[in-house]
Amino acid sequence: MAVTVLASWMVASKARLRREVGFWIFLLSNALWVAWAIPERAYALVALQLFLAITNLRGIAKCRKERLRSRPRRGDDSSEANCSPMNPSGMAVAALPHLNTMEASMERFTGKTVIVTGSASGMGRGMAQRFSREGANVVLCDVHEDKLREVASTLPSDRTLAQVCDVSDFEAVAGLVAAAVKRFGALDVMCNNAGIASEGSVVEVPLDEWKKTIDTDLSGVFHGCRAALPELLKTQGCIVNTASVSGLAADWSMSAYNAAKGGVVNLTRAIALDFGARGVRANAVCPSLTRTGMTQDMLDDPSLVAKFMERMPLKRVAEPEDIAGVVAFLASDDARFVNGVNLPVDGGVMASNGQPAQG
Ligand SMILES: NC(=O)c1ccc[n+]([C@@H]2O[C@H](COP(=O)([O-])OP(=O)(O)OC[C@H]3O[C@@H](n4cnc5c(N)ncnc54)[C@H](O)[C@@H]3O)[C@@H](O)[C@H]2O)c1
Repeated sequence: MAVTVLASWMVASKARLRREVGFWIFLLSNALWVAWAIPERAYALVALQLFLAITNLRGIAKCRKERLRSRPRRGDDSSEANCSPMNPSGMAVAALPHLNTMEASMERFTGKTVIVTGSASGMGRGMAQRFSREGANVVLCDVHEDKLREVASTLPSDRTLAQVCDVSDFEAVAGLVAAAVKRFGALDVMCNNAGIASEGSVVEVPLDEWKKTIDTDLSGVFHGCRAALPELLKTQGCIVNTASVSGLAADWSMSAYNAAKGGVVNLTRAIALDFGARGVRANAVCPSLTRTGMTQDMLDDPSLVAKFMERMPLKRVAEPEDIAGVVAFLASDDARFVNGVNLPVDGGVMASNGQPAQG
């Protein structure tokens, strides 16, 4: 009896090891107790023991479930997970102290299928990981096969499909949507995120680079929307495009990129008007400088980063997770009345009228 009481106390403990050892002691002592009580016909004691056992089993099962949910996945940006409610999401909370753990309780996409283009790195990778953590079936797409496989290996294989696909090729994107529907049965969210950067004024940018930028950054989004819409109409799903603050106003010497992202901004509005009445929402995020492969060269230049920070009210560069959280919000039912919005995720950069700070 004393052993059973001790084991019960261990099972109720907050330390996982003690709890699990207690669980096994509890099980063993119960088995012995029942083995003694049945021949003695002490059925009331047997019933009491069984009740205690079931109560403790439920406690252990609950902890195991929490632990599975918080376990960091290979290649994930997660810090070491534990059973504590302070860090149940598996996100890199230590690296990003500004992130709270609200996400832990969100499973807004369980049973839903989400395509994220350009998900082999940067923001797309962050979005894929975020949607997956919230329970979605995630379809990854990129032109970089190796990096794509690497990201896919960080996600649950039964809820992940990775396909090499160039978004500038409509047939390839249509094939991606078909593969997603074939594997998971439906499509609920289309995130058109793939993109490339481009420099040069109108007279400087090489003609082939202009074309490639428009083909990828604008036509790639158009292709994704066009291919996905028939499926999204069936599920009353939604589109979240990755535009940019560079689509809301212009940069110096980035003419092709500005034209493409400006196009994404207004294409998003056009889709919101044309398909809102039929139950499909379309929105876009407009990030400012974010820490990804695209901006690595810029971030390696401290004087350039300092110039950005002069205009940045929140005084830091965005992380992919900052963007992914907003994309997940726009894709979720929490944003069910948000349609046609190009949402700056820019730390306040677009709050400025462009004039320099005084004093
Ligand atoms: N990083 C920033 O500061 C920033 C700011 C605003 C907007 N954006 C936009 O965010 C999106 C994601 O960029 P990121 O910053 O994560 O950069 P990134 O380079 O890390 O990711 C872009 C991904 O798109 C993929 N890609 C490129 N062309 C493709 C194509 N034709 N088909 C399929 N995949 C293709 C790349 O291989 C890469 O994996 C882009 O649309 C970019 O324009 C970035």
